[in-house]
Amino acid sequence: MAARAHDNAGELAKAFTFSMWRALHTLLLAMLLVVLVGTPAAAEDGDAVDPAGFSGRCLTCHSMPYLGVVDTPLGPRDLHIDPEVYESSVHGLLPCNSCHAGFSHNPHQMVPNAEFFAETAGEACKNCHDDQFEMYKQSYHGELTREGVAEGVASPLCVDCHGTHGIAYVDTLEYRQTIADVCGACHGGREDTFLDTYHGKSLSLGREASATCVDCHGDHSILPVSNPLSTLSKANILPTCQECHPDAGEGFTTFLVHIEPTSTKAPLVVFLVAMAYLALIVAVFSFGGVHTLLYIYRGFKDKLYFNKGGGH
Ligand code: HEC
Ligand code: HEC
Ligand code: HEC
Ligand code: HEC
Ligand code: HEC
Ligand code: HEC
Ligand code: HEC
Repeated sequence: MAARAHDNAGELAKAFTFSMWRALHTLLLAMLLVVLVGTPAAAEDGDAVDPAGFSGRCLTCHSMPYLGVVDTPLGPRDLHIDPEVYESSVHGLLPCNSCHAGFSHNPHQMVPNAEFFAETAGEACKNCHDDQFEMYKQSYHGELTREGVAEGVASPLCVDCHGTHGIAYVDTLEYRQTIADVCGACHGGREDTFLDTYHGKSLSLGREASATCVDCHGDHSILPVSNPLSTLSKANILPTCQECHPDAGEGFTTFLVHIEPTSTKAPLVVFLVAMAYLALIVAVFSFGGVHTLLYIYRGFKDKLYFNKGGGH
């Protein structure tokens, strides 16, 4: 009981700071625009009243699809940016250099690709989303990034989960439905098993209340399940399920969220049920096949197919 009351208080505090954060964002955005309008560079071209003036001038070149692709250690990058996608993103009103610090139009400051990409992708969001940045840094993903790009699969940076120039609001069904794909890009097998379960099916059918990866694992503070601070550790898993299943008891958490029933690693009951199901499918289809063959045979026997001699 006490734990739940505590949770609720935590939720309230979260909601409160978040709405404050939003208000702050709006204020910040307004201030940025003032700064932008006030800069001599913007005034020079007489487009100071156009809030997108700064971005507009970067886009003179970067909206050109033929600008080309450059190779970077993180893979090839298309220098083309679709202005419509950018303008309809959450940051559509921000000047490009709010993330690309130090970039000006003229002369275009050239930073060596590798250095630029690593810095921008790692630090671009920090100034305005400090909360998320701090949580992220302490998460398992953040820890891995601090150690540099891991062998094989890289650990996700902000832009791997949110996109870069087309970032969307997160509290929509559309965004929630993409989360499994975003995580699945690096956690392949898991995505399939999630989609097979109740939660995955129900979310893809449009039930917004259903759980997706981050409702159970957390978003910016993801930790391995074995870590006691994980939302899914032995001590925390029940309260995590109870956020949406208030009546859940201890036994509820034994529900297998990620499971490949036909794997021999699955518990015996699940494995047997899956096998029985498979056997049933085979039986039904075999019966159907035999039945159809007999039916065709019967057709031949009764000369239904080749009406030799015509007419009756
Ligand atoms: C919200 C922050 C943000 C804003 C605003 C932003 N960018 Fe970016 N941009 C980035 C990040 C981060 C990267 C590095 C992407 C990566 O490593 O995946 C990047 C990469 C790029 C690249 C390299 C190609 C690519 O897509 O990876 C170009 C060119 C670019 N940005 C131009 C612009 C222009 C022009 C604008 C304004 C219209 C703009 N950016 C606005 C964050 C931003
Ligand atoms: C006159 C055309 C032009 C304008 C204006 C322009 N760019 Fe570029 N930009 C380019 C070209 C060409 C490249 C490719 C350079 C390369 O291959 O290193 C580039 C590369 C970039 C990159 C990748 C940089 C790297 O080397 O890693 C970013 C980010 C970028 N531009 C952002 C901006 C921003 C932000 C603005 C506005 C402040 C802007 N650009 C204005 C032509 C332009
Ligand atoms: C592993 C994927 C992932 C990474 C990495 C990530 N985010 Fe998020 N972020 C999400 C998801 C998913 C949500 C939606 C929250 C939800 O539904 O619980 C979100 C929500 C947000 C929000 C909306 C407010 C909130 O907290 O819900 C902001 C702002 C944000 N992220 C910024 C960032 C920044 C900045 C970084 C890098 C420091 C970052 N994110 C890294 C997945 C990620
Ligand atoms: C110059 C400040 C600034 C920078 C830098 C910035 N953002 Fe934002 N971001 C904002 C503002 C302001 C909003 C809120 C817009 C609104 O509420 O209408 C926002 C909204 C968002 C949202 C949607 C939050 C929600 O409530 O759904 C996400 C996700 C997000 N930003 C991610 C990022 C990521 C990732 C980066 C780095 C690549 C980044 N931002 C860089 C100012 C910034
Ligand atoms: C860009 C790739 C990438 C993306 C996107 C990504 N992760 Fe990860 N994640 C990793 C890597 C790499 C590790 C470390 C794997 C290891 O230690 O074996 C990791 C570790 C984890 C762990 C710790 C347990 C483990 O397997 O070691 C969890 C839980 C996790 N991620 C969940 C998520 C969730 C949920 C999302 C989506 C919100 C997500 N990840 C998105 C790359 C990614
Ligand atoms: C209903 C809650 C729930 C949802 C939704 C969920 N998971 Fe899990 N996840 C768990 C639990 C519980 C475990 C630990 C037991 C297990 O491994 O099956 C786990 C384990 C994991 C692990 C291994 C973690 C470790 O430390 O070994 C990864 C990686 C993972 N999940 C990724 C994902 C991804 C990606 C998604 C979305 C496609 C997702 N999960 C959706 C509850 C969930
Ligand atoms: C974000 C909310 C949310 C979280 C967190 C969540 N669930 Fe669910 N879960 C749902 C919803 C909603 C349904 C019902 C889906 C429907 O009817 O379309 C459901 C259905 C189920 C079902 C099948 C129907 C039933 O009620 O028996 C099981 C089993 C289940 N969840 C287990 C879990 C477990 C175990 C956890 C914790 C590891 C968990 N859930 C966490 C929202 C959630």
